[in-house]
Amino acid sequence: MKILYVASEALPYASTGGLADVLGSLPIAVKRSLGDEGDVRVVIPMYPSVKEKFFDQMKFECETTVRLSWRSQYCGIWSTVREGVTYYFIDNEYYFKRPALYGSFDDGERFAFFGKAVLELMSTMQFFPDILHANDWQTAPAVIYLKRKFGLAPGYENIRVLYTIHNIEYQGVYDFSILGDVFELAEWDRSIVEYNGAINLTKGALMCADRISTVSPRYASEIMTEYYSAGLHHVLHACSHKLSGIINGIDTEYYNCATDPEIAAVFTKDDLSGKVKDKMDLQAVCGFEPDPDVPLIVMISRLATHKGFDLIRHVIEEFLNRNHVQVALLGTGERDMEGFFADLGHRYPGKFCAKLEYNKALSKKFYAGADMFLMPSKSEPCGLAQMIASQYGTVPVVRETGGLFDTIHAYNQYTGEGNGFSFTNYNAHEMMHVLESAVALYNDKEKWNALVKNVMDVDFSWNASAEKYLQLYTGMREQ
Ligand code: GLC
Repeated sequence: MKILYVASEALPYASTGGLADVLGSLPIAVKRSLGDEGDVRVVIPMYPSVKEKFFDQMKFECETTVRLSWRSQYCGIWSTVREGVTYYFIDNEYYFKRPALYGSFDDGERFAFFGKAVLELMSTMQFFPDILHANDWQTAPAVIYLKRKFGLAPGYENIRVLYTIHNIEYQGVYDFSILGDVFELAEWDRSIVEYNGAINLTKGALMCADRISTVSPRYASEIMTEYYSAGLHHVLHACSHKLSGIINGIDTEYYNCATDPEIAAVFTKDDLSGKVKDKMDLQAVCGFEPDPDVPLIVMISRLATHKGFDLIRHVIEEFLNRNHVQVALLGTGERDMEGFFADLGHRYPGKFCAKLEYNKALSKKFYAGADMFLMPSKSEPCGLAQMIASQYGTVPVVRETGGLFDTIHAYNQYTGEGNGFSFTNYNAHEMMHVLESAVALYNDKEKWNALVKNVMDVDFSWNASAEKYLQLYTGMREQ
């Protein structure tokens, strides 16, 4: 089976969030499972960071010209092979040599170019996949162009498309005035991309894809409701016959507390002594008292409202004042949130610490050194952090939504079952009370250690989910 994954980011090359983790690990898991039967490739843009760090591993494949509306643009194709998977990089400095991956005024044009370049790559590299697996709105143009422009051309006619929603909040919405000029779409394509009086690229991809998936079964049902759909529930209802949810896995070799070179001390679920050293290390990083017995709670997240930061903001001072705890936050995001947490750190030194940065190496220290991991998302398509935390014996405290609902099962004080703590309603005090029951259990060392063991026992590797994707791909081929 030939599979081409298309995305705007993939680890270790370029990353702003969980999407990159998935594109750095799912294709490899699928290739592993297919063995010689599989030809698995991935394509992402060539960002400056990729050129700086990985240039010496790259092979120049060729250069072509990509036409988009009246534009003719240079397109270089570079490649590298990682664990049997070929990663392609689309090079065009005009579009991709920018200070950040996203957030430019012309993101629509940048990813329209990328989409067109991906389809051209298939013929230049003579690689026509059975499955084109596209991920999030930046790849929606590739899906739309395949079905509206390339579909009947030789080589393209049998490609089946899976479009995966990693987060429905980001849709790629643009004014109709650029339908032809930028997106090279004709009037008769209008109804495909039109939504609420504008061009909505996600809607276009949902209409065109053969199958749609999202990254947890729970989120697949949630996005059919107005509360979670960011406006697209009508479209998703119309497409429900082709929608399913498959939970993400994580790279359990990279996130492995028994071998991780980036943490102060390694440990296993049978010998947690190294975790105590990691805790002291994290306490030093945060400027906290080195105390193995005080519950240390961390959050690692983009500081966005839908990640639940308004709940935290509402009760954090009350919580800090009522409990003997240490709380640390790692992440960047919305300006006012950053300001609030920076200020809180100054007002509660020794109790609250905000590290306002996106730092993978530091995140490892947070995962390994903490006792509890707080993730009170308002919506969470899958969430990887709760799984990564679990790998490091850090007990997740989550809101029951999306992938958090599917992966974390609340601790049952009578049976001792469960792998974390959870609350149902998006309510700040409900969150605080659950957090306080976690803190209370923490003081009962025997029960706490049994819970930590449960948490570390769950298999969050790609094994099961890669098989589910393979079943989906196989079904699509036979369609
Ligand atoms: C997005 C979602 C997150 C998910 C990730 C990978 O970042 O917000 O929940 O885990 O994509 O699918």
